[in-house]
Amino acid sequence: MNGLNGATNGSPMRYGLTWNGKSRARRAAHTPARSTLVPCPEKSVNWDTTRNLLIEGDNLEALKLLQESYRRKVRMIYIDPPYNTGKDFIYPDDFRYSVADYLRLTCQADRADQSGRRPMMNVETSGRYHTDWLNMMYPRLKLGRSLLRDGGVIFISIGDQELANLRLICNELFGEGNCLGCVARVAKRTSNKGTHFAPSKDYVLVYARRAECVAPFMDVVRPSYAARFAQEDERGHYATVGLYQAALDPRPNQRYWIECPDGSFVIPPGEVFPEEVADAAQVRPASRRDRVWRWSRQSYLEKRHLLVFKESARSPLLTPDGSLSKWNVYTKYYLEDRLKDGTRPRDYLDDVTNDLGTAALKRLGLDDFFEFAKPPELMRRLMHWLGGDEGVYMDFFAGSGTLAQAVLEQNAEDGGNRQFILVQLPEPCPEDSVAAQSGYPTIADICRERVRRVMAGLGDQDGGFKVFKLDATDCAMEGD
Ligand SMILES: C[S@@+](CC[C@H](N)C(=O)[O-])C[C@H]1O[C@@H](n2cnc3c(N)ncnc32)[C@H](O)[C@@H]1O
Repeated sequence: MNGLNGATNGSPMRYGLTWNGKSRARRAAHTPARSTLVPCPEKSVNWDTTRNLLIEGDNLEALKLLQESYRRKVRMIYIDPPYNTGKDFIYPDDFRYSVADYLRLTCQADRADQSGRRPMMNVETSGRYHTDWLNMMYPRLKLGRSLLRDGGVIFISIGDQELANLRLICNELFGEGNCLGCVARVAKRTSNKGTHFAPSKDYVLVYARRAECVAPFMDVVRPSYAARFAQEDERGHYATVGLYQAALDPRPNQRYWIECPDGSFVIPPGEVFPEEVADAAQVRPASRRDRVWRWSRQSYLEKRHLLVFKESARSPLLTPDGSLSKWNVYTKYYLEDRLKDGTRPRDYLDDVTNDLGTAALKRLGLDDFFEFAKPPELMRRLMHWLGGDEGVYMDFFAGSGTLAQAVLEQNAEDGGNRQFILVQLPEPCPEDSVAAQSGYPTIADICRERVRRVMAGLGDQDGGFKVFKLDATDCAMEGD
């Protein structure tokens, strides 16, 4: 049975998520790999010089094999695993079977293998609905974590179906204190499916190997944000914000007179006033009704040069005789400072929707090859938040290889030296699909072709990738 255990008095149970097969899933991360990586130079580009890797095979095996060379080396992992919608396949991790059995399954996705097993459409009516997904994810996340370096971060795209379970297993594997956030993303703008709501968002869960080693995230300055800085003075473009904000709690040294350009004085709304009517003369607020400026008197004296006075018929500020003033007071903040300091990203994204993922494939001439591509812009945003321009970037549910595109484009833009590692099953494309009919029989083939086209598009003559396959691929095809 699945469940969430909580320790109660006298109970030996530990708090945590349990499910059928959890111990086996935990052990699965520790059992040695049963395959090796076979180089495929004929499918690779610039084999001798590149550090980028494309691995075709099951990611559980691949993650085990990568431990030797990449343990604690990876700067960023982005994954977009099956959301468990009931329509995506969950490949059965049955650890009694060999890799060859496993690959036979994946190469015959529409047929049962000799033992009658097939990859599951994990439908919600199945009693094993969450269990199968958890058994698949747990060992992979455990192995993924051990590849991260101290300042490394994993970003995991996920839908509503498994968000809660994913968060609980990540809390267990990474530690709750290493959860950096959960970002909601608008995935589609038009959707009419769903019973009570039209689902249009997903999430990106963010965990660090060691949160204290990750610098605060900084956002990109978007054109819409820069457009706010429409005014200009000798220092540059600036925007303004009111020095009085109604929501501020009263503080002792924030209620004082300010002298306006015509020699009149203003103060926020309230009932007590400084005895002397003079610039910066202050009074202690007596109650919550005595409102205050955003700046202390000291800050005001130091930064008066940043004030902007605007005449306004709706100013809430008071004059010494208690009437409403014609002046309102604002402070300047400069675009240059915001560009330098950056801004903390909000934990929602509304400008990297799925249609950008489709458009990216279309630009590469791969329209209709792959339905579930995420936008490269999403991954580039995550890379920007994390900062840095070198290191290993990994996606072990690579699909069409969007992460590689994001890495290559980001390197081209900022001269960075990031390398990528992608892992993707040779999951067969349906025989009647555009991809299969265009000569790309598996998703791994689409992924490889996409990376090749991105490099060509960027004019990246020196770039390349090494392709490896799990050694059992050939024997998986035996008996076909
Ligand atoms: C939702 S898609 C990822 C899409 C990708 N983010 C993109 O933008 O193209 C998930 C992918 O994981 C792959 N996958 C599922 N199980 C896997 C496994 N055990 N090992 C490797 N890849 C797997 C599936 O074949 C599928 O292509």
